[in-house]
Amino acid sequence: MTLAEKVGQMVQVERVNATAQTVKEYFIGSLLSGGGSAPSDKASPEAWVDMVNEFQKGALATRLGIPMIYGIDAVHGHNNVYKATIFPHNVGLGVTRDPELVKKIGAATALEVRATGIPYAFAPCIAVCRDPRWGRCYESYSEDPKIVKMMTELIPGLQGDRPDKVPKGFPYVNGKRHVAGCAKHFVGDGGTVKGINENNTIVDDNQLYNIHMPAYWDSVDKGVATVMASYSSLNGVKMHANKAMLTDYLKGKMQFKGFIISDYQGIDKITPVPDSNYTYSIEQSINDGIDMVMVGYTSYKEYLQILTKLVKTNYIPMSRIDGAVTRILRVKFSMGLFEHPLGDYSLVKKVGCKEHRKLAKEAVRKSLVLLKNGKSGDKPLLPLPKKASKILVAGEHADNLGLQCGGWTIEWQGLNKTDLTEGTTILKAIQETVHKKTQVVYEKKPTAEFAKSGGFEYAVVVIGEQPYAETKGDNENLTIPEPGPEMIKNVCGNVKCVVILISGRPLVVEPYIDTMDAFVAAWLPGSEGQGVAEVLFGKYGFTGKLARTWFKRVDQLPMNVGDKSYDPLFPFEFGLTTKGEKEDGKEKENEKEKEKEKEKEKPKSDL
Ligand code: GLC
Repeated sequence: MTLAEKVGQMVQVERVNATAQTVKEYFIGSLLSGGGSAPSDKASPEAWVDMVNEFQKGALATRLGIPMIYGIDAVHGHNNVYKATIFPHNVGLGVTRDPELVKKIGAATALEVRATGIPYAFAPCIAVCRDPRWGRCYESYSEDPKIVKMMTELIPGLQGDRPDKVPKGFPYVNGKRHVAGCAKHFVGDGGTVKGINENNTIVDDNQLYNIHMPAYWDSVDKGVATVMASYSSLNGVKMHANKAMLTDYLKGKMQFKGFIISDYQGIDKITPVPDSNYTYSIEQSINDGIDMVMVGYTSYKEYLQILTKLVKTNYIPMSRIDGAVTRILRVKFSMGLFEHPLGDYSLVKKVGCKEHRKLAKEAVRKSLVLLKNGKSGDKPLLPLPKKASKILVAGEHADNLGLQCGGWTIEWQGLNKTDLTEGTTILKAIQETVHKKTQVVYEKKPTAEFAKSGGFEYAVVVIGEQPYAETKGDNENLTIPEPGPEMIKNVCGNVKCVVILISGRPLVVEPYIDTMDAFVAAWLPGSEGQGVAEVLFGKYGFTGKLARTWFKRVDQLPMNVGDKSYDPLFPFEFGLTTKGEKEDGKEKENEKEKEKEKEKEKPKSDL
């Protein structure tokens, strides 16, 4: 390979800045869709495949014909893609404590990603969020590293199970219906001071290796293809320029053999912006262990030119370039990208398919946490009776898919838009579940008078956060945004009510808890709101247990299970249960029984 062919492999370019021609001309090894970056508004799966294949033909037209690898943030389903199944965000999946379920979600997500011609997903985020003021806390499965370790089962879901013949640490991706994964963001992204995004994580060895590192060992063990460096710093050292952790620890001690990718323009922030020194950033990050740079909107031409010069002037040894390219090609070879470089149109019907939505519904059910059920002395309010004369559903979060899905959905920041994508709102699910004679009244912002005089048997109040992603979600006060508190006062002060909180993390609820008859944490459930109704009305029972401590006041933060001073409103692992007509676990066993019966009935082939 020429130097130009080598350095071309070490750049990942945002799709808007590339054409098939430039991919060919600069030997570009990878492209991405950043959050919300789609071929067009509401692009069909076919349009995605067309786009990816068009870029790929540019790569295949180069002298060596090395296929490019296209990456995307499929972090709760294939969330950039219109009509894809949107699963609960990780904050809810951690509550399920069901690695089997998360593995299935990985497999379903991989299939929908492949259905759009894409072979690489920047997931899972295995951050251990230690402070809910962090805007990305909903991308973290839990404050408890044991739960995060458990949820690395997403990797064999996305990639396939690493067979014994593939040594530990080597990337493994099983062919056409799986995708390369990306454990992120290495390391300590969830432990920054006050949860300030991209800030400094100050930890001793015990905290680093027993809280933030364990899930990386599981990820490497499961054959994760790539690891993404964190924007944050570790004890003052930028992770994108941290040789001790990237090279000595991840590649050395852990024997990780896939490639390390930077975060989006992550190397640009190594030196203090705005007078950042890009040449120094490239030299430092590559020498310290970054293999592929996600240049994002930064000019890839500038990056390639500087990198080439740094090699020619021996600031970066050729051995380092060869090491990086070896890892990148190893991933591409191991996943069959050379044999199958083009997207497969036959999978397009998998996007948002029924079986995936059914799986998402199960995940929603298991992600809900019942935190209060009946005022003291009262009988439990939940499960709600399907048959009632008249019920009130209140709050804009009840009928808004955008709010239900949260950030990283269609748009990077998500969007407050009820028909943002295809799915079932909580209101629609309630309407489909209650008895046909039950009158369901929906009011976005009911007054106290409206609630009082409406003759409602009970009310479901759905409130919560507006969508956000990354730094935009950093929040120091963690109060429920208005009109949430006003809805609680107006409705729960006049009607038996269950409050459902749609949020990326625990919020300040202590001032209102006594006014509520029942309280459910639903986190960011995604497109399948039916999962909420099925538990609210008792088809299934509540089973979820908190995977995060529910604090009383923000001045207690950070406060995590195991801390000496621990005085939560609801402790880690708390969650009330109710009996359902069906049990998820048993239902699964029944399904297995049915499968066995079907097998027995099948005529034995004589082959
Ligand atoms: C973002 C995020 C990272 C994501 C990447 C590509 O800034 O930090 O999680 O995978 O850029 O969109």
